[in-house]
Amino acid sequence: MKTIKVRLKENSYNIYIGKGILDQFNGLFPSKEPRKALLVTNETVWKLYGKRTVDSINDGFVNVITLILPDGERYKTLRSVEKGYRTLVENKFTRSDCIINLGGGVICDTGGYIAATYMRGIDFYQIPTTLLAQVDASIGGKVAVNLPQGKNLVGTFYQPDGVLIDIDFLNTLPKREFNSGWAEIIKAGILDGENFFSFLERGRYPIISPIEKAIRLKERVVRIDERDRGLRKILNLGHTFAHAIESATNYRRYLHGEAVSIGMMYAIRLGEAIGVTDETLKDRVKVLLERFELPVELKGIDPQRLIPYFYVDKKATTGSLSFIIPLKIGDVREFKDVKLEILGGILR
Ligand SMILES: NC(=O)c1ccc[n+]([C@@H]2O[C@H](COP(=O)([O-])OP(=O)(O)OC[C@H]3O[C@@H](n4cnc5c(N)ncnc54)[C@H](O)[C@@H]3O)[C@@H](O)[C@H]2O)c1
Repeated sequence: MKTIKVRLKENSYNIYIGKGILDQFNGLFPSKEPRKALLVTNETVWKLYGKRTVDSINDGFVNVITLILPDGERYKTLRSVEKGYRTLVENKFTRSDCIINLGGGVICDTGGYIAATYMRGIDFYQIPTTLLAQVDASIGGKVAVNLPQGKNLVGTFYQPDGVLIDIDFLNTLPKREFNSGWAEIIKAGILDGENFFSFLERGRYPIISPIEKAIRLKERVVRIDERDRGLRKILNLGHTFAHAIESATNYRRYLHGEAVSIGMMYAIRLGEAIGVTDETLKDRVKVLLERFELPVELKGIDPQRLIPYFYVDKKATTGSLSFIIPLKIGDVREFKDVKLEILGGILR
């Protein structure tokens, strides 16, 4: 088992990564005093792992209550959050009780937001079950839900008290979902530098290695800039485009990682159009994305339709558009005031 400590000014916590470690939850995160836990999950994950998870955590808590939400991004809403609050109140949860999220990024984000806001914040633990949630959504403390107007528009920064990553969850993950998670690993490789990226290019490694490397990269960035004021913005590589793509297609056509994959290719093209991006980057990134069957072009809608969504994205400051652009592997920066003509030119 690997342990990564997320070192923050307050609330440092451990991420445990291993094979078949779900059963070790209580040993890894012992409760100091008797307390209740709310297990937040969805119907799909509950059927696959509900019983084993409850058996695993039961002994560590005086009572385990479950909140099983419907499956899907469209349930990452304030309505689901309210359901969570109601369950907590009905079961008399106090500030010393906790929440355990078992699921993909949707559950980690929704359950995390419930934990962050119920009684001004209670403890919570992440047990991410998709590759995307293991390398990205479950760590770093961004928790949010969607509004009809856009993704993640209501949220806060709130760090978990621990993360348990069991790679055995990946055995039941549909191939498309698995590949979607690879987009975030490839993103981490671009941000991190040549060592990580060429390790990915070489291939042939146990899955735990790229997961660990991607988490270490995110930990380093979050440690320096927990609140997204500077460096952390680079983690949004591809995401301004991705959020626009997901909104413009009503979250139906592309999985999050697939939208990030197309978004990273647009970010590279934008960098080329501005004249700052190394000309070898596009092909290297494309080859790697295509190895995991990820889309590299937007299909079925006119890319120009993305433009209005950039102005809703919370990373846009009034009137000007900023994008995260890779210059080369290991050198990714924020560019402010990107001209609409240049952006329009690459959205073909
Ligand atoms: N907070 C952050 O920092 C952050 C970072 C990246 C993404 N996100 C968010 O994460 C969400 C996407 O997460 P996701 O890709 O995990 O999607 P998801 O949570 O919708 O899970 C994908 C699908 O896989 C199913 N599933 C989950 N685990 C499974 C397993 N082990 N076996 C079989 N099926 C399983 C789910 O039920 C779902 O149908 C988005 O809402 C995105 O905004 C948040």
